Amino acid sequence: MALALMGCGGSSARGAGESTAPPEQEAAKTQEDKEADESKTEPSAAPEDGKGERGGNGSGVLVVYFSRTGEQYEVGVIEEGNTAIVAQMIGEAAGADLFEILPADDHYPETYEELTEVAKDEQRKKARPAYAGEVPDLTPYQTVFIGSPVWWGDWPMIMYSFFEDHAEDLAGKTLIPFSTHEGSGLAGFDRKLSSACPESTVGEGLAVRGYDAQNDREAVRSRVESWVLSMGF
Ligand SMILES: Cc1cc2nc3c(=O)[nH]c(=O)nc-3n(C[C@H](O)[C@H](O)[C@H](O)COP(=O)(O)O)c2cc1C
Repeated sequence: MALALMGCGGSSARGAGESTAPPEQEAAKTQEDKEADESKTEPSAAPEDGKGERGGNGSGVLVVYFSRTGEQYEVGVIEEGNTAIVAQMIGEAAGADLFEILPADDHYPETYEELTEVAKDEQRKKARPAYAGEVPDLTPYQTVFIGSPVWWGDWPMIMYSFFEDHAEDLAGKTLIPFSTHEGSGLAGFDRKLSSACPESTVGEGLAVRGYDAQNDREAVRSRVESWVLSMGF
């Protein structure tokens, strides 16, 4: 299913034989993006509204994420997605429920190079890939962490499918973006999320290198916990 309850701008296409470096290196980065590169930015939108609200497991906090396994840049073939690792840590730190966005038709290749081509094509077409299943009722959640890998300097297009489908349901809530990446940092996720969900409050996010999520988990966990705690959870 598309959102599995777990309990608790573009750049040019690469030609064959061109760099296998992460696509952010080809993507034009704004100064704002560059400033966001160095991981954590200080959170500013304390989820005051969320306090006292109780939904799902009772926390009023939800983590929505998209993540891929298979071959990923710098980490080889992985069995647990980089973003999934961070999402799980956020869930544990905030006592939140987790939902994973899964494609309805899993057309994403398992090999990195092929995946970059499919993702680039979706971005070029402004595709809105479908996710499977029913999204659970978002009403009880006042704070929603939303994260994914950076794909070509942007949210994967499937995330826009979710944002556009649920902008109304997310109105009035605090949305806190997070990314995993290999150089692009938050890649303007906050700004783009704010555009897609204009009636929501978007807090400052967290950017984690995918390599670190796989290989330096305790350091990442410590960063995640500090970030979540600093927002009052
Ligand atoms: C299609 C594709 C595009 C990517 N584009 C970027 C990018 O623009 N900037 C960047 O820093 N990393 C980029 N990466 C690297 C991923 O963001 C990084 O490996 C991420 O941690 C993968 O997370 P996941 O395992 O949760 O899917 C890209 C990876 C893929 C597969």
